[in-house]
Amino acid sequence: GYVGSAGPSGRPLDVVLEGLRRLEYRGYDSAGVALVVPGGELATAKKAGKLANLVGEVEAHPLPPATAAIGHTRWATHGAPTDANAHPHVSGRVAVIHNGIVENYAPLKAELLADGVEFLSETDTEVVAHLVARAYDQVKDLTAALASVARRLEGTFTLLAVHADVPDTVVGARHDSPLVVGLGDGENFLGSDVAAFIGSTREALELGQDQVVTITPTSVTVTDLAGVTVQAKPFTVDWDTKAAEKGGFRSFMDKEINDQPQAVADTLLGRLDLSGRLVLDEMRIEESVLRAVDKIVVVACGTAAYAGHVAKYAIEHWCRIPVEVELAHEFRYRDPVVDERTLVVAVSQSGETMDTLMAVRHAREQGATTLAIVNTHGSTIPREADAVLYTHAGPEVAVASTKAFLSQITAAYLLGLYLAQLRGNKFSDEVASTLAELREMPDKIQEVLDRSDRVREIARWMADTPSVLFLGRHVGFPVALEGALKLKELAYIHAEGFAAGELKHGPIALIEPGQPVFVIVPSPRGRHSLHSKVVSNIQEIRARGARTLVVAEDGDDAVVPYADEVFFVPQTSTLLAPLLTVVPLQVFASELAHAKGLDVDQPRNLAKSVTVE
Ligand code: G6P
Repeated sequence: GYVGSAGPSGRPLDVVLEGLRRLEYRGYDSAGVALVVPGGELATAKKAGKLANLVGEVEAHPLPPATAAIGHTRWATHGAPTDANAHPHVSGRVAVIHNGIVENYAPLKAELLADGVEFLSETDTEVVAHLVARAYDQVKDLTAALASVARRLEGTFTLLAVHADVPDTVVGARHDSPLVVGLGDGENFLGSDVAAFIGSTREALELGQDQVVTITPTSVTVTDLAGVTVQAKPFTVDWDTKAAEKGGFRSFMDKEINDQPQAVADTLLGRLDLSGRLVLDEMRIEESVLRAVDKIVVVACGTAAYAGHVAKYAIEHWCRIPVEVELAHEFRYRDPVVDERTLVVAVSQSGETMDTLMAVRHAREQGATTLAIVNTHGSTIPREADAVLYTHAGPEVAVASTKAFLSQITAAYLLGLYLAQLRGNKFSDEVASTLAELREMPDKIQEVLDRSDRVREIARWMADTPSVLFLGRHVGFPVALEGALKLKELAYIHAEGFAAGELKHGPIALIEPGQPVFVIVPSPRGRHSLHSKVVSNIQEIRARGARTLVVAEDGDDAVVPYADEVFFVPQTSTLLAPLLTVVPLQVFASELAHAKGLDVDQPRNLAKSVTVE
């Protein structure tokens, strides 16, 4: 949403289209805008498909100058991605956009139908547009009208509304879905996240649950759903705008993979003091509470859950605290055993994933302490958690996560090492040496990137492959899972990750001549005897005809005789290896998707931040 026809950022239409471009990762099956035109008219345009279709539409059929605008990119829930179902939805002189799901839309729709209202779409959102139009006709106040409708809705929503009678006003309301305010000079912004407006302003306001915001070019007013004024919390976005541009790369995915040394360095920055000790005062959790923790549960979804999986191995080893990792959507519904001595760590790039947010709420209700490892400032999960450790990876635009993954793992290591330091455990030498090693990781990740030509070449050759398997053990297991996930997401290839030890218990039946299998090999210098076991696994699958693509550390000659290809990565300690071994897998998936001519930044059916359960 944008108000400010005389504002420095240009025409409302252009500002909103630019905001949509920056937010397109949130959903991209259709897009639309509504403008309030001076003289009291609305003008709308909407198109199925990606934002480019909408841009083409408004170029072919220009819209009149406006004083305010709202825009939306959709990830369909109710109704197929068609022009008619695209937002905004208009009722008379009102236009509405919506993120989330109105769960009680059926009775509300029945009520409106009985009153003779005609529906033009199959969406739950259109119900809201009609309700707001009717409420406005009664109260003649858009803020009060939207608040009164919001009070009747069940489910999750962020709603923005404009009315042709109030040409320089946009009103928003939120319940469980995200909404942030961007503060300009003679102009103001509303967005699902700060990326929408960081090209224009870095000053922003957080909105709380069940709040309503009214923006005009010179004012921002926040109330609760009952209309009582509330104070919103201001914050400054520290992201570099350039970080949200492709910067000469052919895709955001390529750029973000390439940004990983910096993302990890930025996550470490300022968190180690001169003596090499970790300083995480920002966490705002009493040390006594952290000392008393007797169990950690990591909750997350998708790639973030695999970062949590790596964290489990590291934290249990360094801290001797049991760590469980659970998909956030499973956690809440199985009556988990969580109490005052449990630390629940929610890992999320966006800070908005609804499944993860609900897990945090559930954990808090059970009395647990909650810590968010999140990348996006102003997002909901850190607002609701007791404490936050930001990952500082900068804006991640490609839908599938890469640099956020590495920085999540890094932040989880910092958390583990910090707890170990705090609890003064017997591995203190190892903690110090691991911290020193962590500081070397950005250079080592760069080294892996510098060596990635061969991975790219092989990915291009394999563009037609129907299936790829990934095997790993110990921390290599979540790396295998992530390698498979990247390939599914980006290249739509059937891919599965397995714990290498499980191979003989089933997955080995999948091996037939020519089947490509990536194997992530642990360091031969590790404490465990895992290296030789994984090398045996490579032999076992090779004997059955598999094509073996091996990721191993420099100097590990033992794998060479059994590998069709080896991608060597620099040496590091066992627990830190995922920061290196996952990189060739990311490059492989991205390059293979490019070779298939796919849109690696916006894969089909996905959205970067899934704000519905
Ligand atoms: C979506 C994205 C995934 C991402 C997951 C978790 O499913 O498509 O790439 O890993 O959400 O997102 P979060 O923002 O919570 O890290």
